[in-house]
Amino acid sequence: MKASVLHGVNEPYVYQEFEKPIPNENEVLIKVSHAALNHRDVWIQKGQYAGLTFPIICGSDGCGVVESVGQNVEGSWVGKEVIVNPSMNWGDNPRFQAKNYVILGLPNNGMFAEYVVVPSRLVYEKPKHLSSEKAAAFPLAGLTGYRALLGRAKAKEGETVLITGVGGGVALFAAQFAIAAKCKVYVTSGSDEKIKQAIDLGAIGGANYKNADWHKELAKTSGGFDVIVDGAGGPDFAKLIDMCKPGARIASYGATVGPWNAGVPAKIFWKQIDILGSTMGNDKEFEEMVAFISEHKIEPIVAKIFGLNQAQDAAKYMDEGKQFGKIVLEI
Ligand SMILES: NC(=O)c1ccc[n+]([C@@H]2O[C@H](COP(=O)([O-])OP(=O)(O)OC[C@H]3O[C@@H](n4cnc5c(N)ncnc54)[C@H](OP(=O)(O)O)[C@@H]3O)[C@@H](O)[C@H]2O)c1
Repeated sequence: MKASVLHGVNEPYVYQEFEKPIPNENEVLIKVSHAALNHRDVWIQKGQYAGLTFPIICGSDGCGVVESVGQNVEGSWVGKEVIVNPSMNWGDNPRFQAKNYVILGLPNNGMFAEYVVVPSRLVYEKPKHLSSEKAAAFPLAGLTGYRALLGRAKAKEGETVLITGVGGGVALFAAQFAIAAKCKVYVTSGSDEKIKQAIDLGAIGGANYKNADWHKELAKTSGGFDVIVDGAGGPDFAKLIDMCKPGARIASYGATVGPWNAGVPAKIFWKQIDILGSTMGNDKEFEEMVAFISEHKIEPIVAKIFGLNQAQDAAKYMDEGKQFGKIVLEI
């Protein structure tokens, strides 16, 4: 089969022949039609990810048709168009993942290939309202955004919610979910155009984090935030705390910019703020997220589609942060 393969740190994705996998017991073989990138696929390429192993076929997200099944798997899966929960071995505790937890696409080979083998228990039928390319775009980012916003921060209808860096894959899902949950949604972005795109989707307003003191005006116009979902981290984290209402919750799922400078502790304890770490999501949250997407007919935003042989261009595009939404590979 053809695949886009990483052979080492700071090496390009190479489009090449690779051995077609065979499904073992409790596994299915999927012929992939579309895959999607996550920032993880760039961190792995840069060597900034734990548990590196090469050669590796990255790619945690995809959509395709079940071609065959291993022993103990219902034959009725064959021919079905499916997506995959990339959150492997979450374990029994819904609160946090087990020690042997991994994400599809490292150390197991992932979706940037014509075929992938995954455990059958992680396979779900594609939501009917979505095209294959849009269905490929949501599993990892959707799950992360869902748990952060609804599982951890427990955003409620009518609450004022801030999503930082809305051009990002996770952030845009968090924004779409918050809008669907009838929250009052504001966003930040380094691009005025992306803020406008978020407003077109139903956000109320936003601020460009490249402007000096961007948070002061945003705090005024929004009236402060009940919930903030942040994947950026960095020195601006202190500004997020400044913009919190008393009793606010901040869900932190990423550190694109780097370490926090969280500022004055009294602002956290006096306002009784909860800072909640959030990573991916458990099996129940994945199921709930798929149901939420189907119920609210949420359409993932696909920023750009590349060919499987252009995985390197796609990774570069993501690294440059030009996208609004997900970057998809057509296999
Ligand atoms: N914990 C988890 O389970 C989990 C899961 C997925 C991702 N992550 C992490 O979460 C982060 C985002 O992942 P992704 O796949 O959504 O990445 P992505 O699609 O590449 O998005 C990154 C976004 O970061 C935003 N950004 C950059 N500088 C910023 C700043 N100073 N302030 C606010 N936002 C800023 C940009 O938004 P604009 O374009 O709008 O400026 C950019 O689009 C990554 O660090 C990733 O490793 C964690």
